[in-house]
Amino acid sequence: MTHPVIGWERETPVHNHVFNDFLSAREGRLYLEDLDLAQLLVGGRQDQGLGRVLPSPLELVYLPLIRRRIGQMRQTFAEAIAQTGYAGRFYYAYASKANEAEEVVRTALGAGAHHEMSSWVDVEIVRLLKAAGHLPPDRLVIANGFKVGGMAYTDDLIRLKSIHDPLIPVVEDLAELPPLVESGLPFDVGLRQKSYGQHQTLAEMDAADSRFGLPSAQLWQAAEAIAAAPNLRLTLYHAMIGSQIISEHEFVAGLRPAIEVYAQLRQRYPDLHIFDYGGGVPVAMTLNLQFDYCAFARLLLTTLQEVCTQYGVPVPDVMGEMGRYTVADHGAHFFKVVTVKENESLLPWYVIDGSIMTSFPDTWALSEHFIVLPLNHLDRPFRRVRLGGITCDSDDIYPPKPSQSPLYLPVDTRDLYVGFFCIGAYQEMLGGVKGTKHCVLPEAVELVVDRDDDGPYQFQVIPGQTAADVMHNLGYVVPENTV
Ligand SMILES: Cc1ncc(COP(=O)(O)O)c(C=O)c1O
Repeated sequence: MTHPVIGWERETPVHNHVFNDFLSAREGRLYLEDLDLAQLLVGGRQDQGLGRVLPSPLELVYLPLIRRRIGQMRQTFAEAIAQTGYAGRFYYAYASKANEAEEVVRTALGAGAHHEMSSWVDVEIVRLLKAAGHLPPDRLVIANGFKVGGMAYTDDLIRLKSIHDPLIPVVEDLAELPPLVESGLPFDVGLRQKSYGQHQTLAEMDAADSRFGLPSAQLWQAAEAIAAAPNLRLTLYHAMIGSQIISEHEFVAGLRPAIEVYAQLRQRYPDLHIFDYGGGVPVAMTLNLQFDYCAFARLLLTTLQEVCTQYGVPVPDVMGEMGRYTVADHGAHFFKVVTVKENESLLPWYVIDGSIMTSFPDTWALSEHFIVLPLNHLDRPFRRVRLGGITCDSDDIYPPKPSQSPLYLPVDTRDLYVGFFCIGAYQEMLGGVKGTKHCVLPEAVELVVDRDDDGPYQFQVIPGQTAADVMHNLGYVVPENTV
């Protein structure tokens, strides 16, 4: 396989160029849809409503891309359903663990997504969203995660049921059933199959080395217990085989043993009607990932049709719990190149005014690649470089250590700003929000951008941390007005 393409790979300037479906170079500057990104930090051209420039580093939260992605996927499945004559519907659920920020979850719900969650604090978030009118009464809430008796999450879910009826706990351990039965409340429940990983057969799936879900024997036991409970109904079957699965065929082939289990369960339990493939739908966090979403949707639906016909059961409704796909590309993070260090290393170091490893933990933990492009000077010559974060950690670099992907940035580093793109899923959740991080670097200012269709941009600036905030976290008593 070729290396992940993370940016411009030539020494020649970038003249007007389209990088992907939301990033383009126009007259030396980088645009995200219609937003001039350099304008946010250096100004100099037409103001788009912000009215000032912001300090670096800067986090960008660009909400229209969340709506666009949700709309595209719902459209993709609507077309695939029409093309294949599929007799079921598609549920788009946002897996909120990918990014729990209020504006993100609110935007996903506003775009029609159902809600997937996994912890007791999530229950509080759902209560708030409901009270604020963002979670309509008919919107499904899918509760994944561990929830055995005695856990706060379990008790909170039982309380949530009385204010939001379409709540579906997805049982992933036999010990999760008794509290639901004992609640006496009429729960629709799901069962999670142990299915993580690539497998061709049920035996392989059962042998998967994963702490998530129930192996087949326990799954059937759970289904029987649900059928015997007067207040429970088995309506959903959940099987997730991984995250960022980049082949449509491997994705559906990996789900096939689970589809067979679904059909067998459906023969015995007629209330069962949702096949939930969990997460795993990939998103292009680099410039050369190709995934054919239409082909994936068609293949999934035709495989469901084929297997259900074989077992003589109706096809299910299909649910996707989309985390990374929903939010990866709405988030970007901009830094200034503060110095260029030529110290006889293999490549010159462009040192930026923030930390790569704490802002995007997957770069050093998983050697994950993200798109990196300059915001300005695109119309000038480039050279191959490496980025260095401003911390003292040898892993605070990009591209990550074993990477073969070349990174080119402009030779002219006067007032040069660079952006990391497609970092909106998991990175902030893993790195933490407003904590205290490596080398005590404060959190950046955040700019939340939204617009109605193609209307003018609306901006909200959320202040970053001060040095006093950081010191406070660490137990220092900071006299007022000192930092
Ligand atoms: C149960 C469940 N559903 C959905 C997701 C979202 O996965 P992705 O980000 O690949 O869409 C996850 C991620 O860990 C998960 O654990």
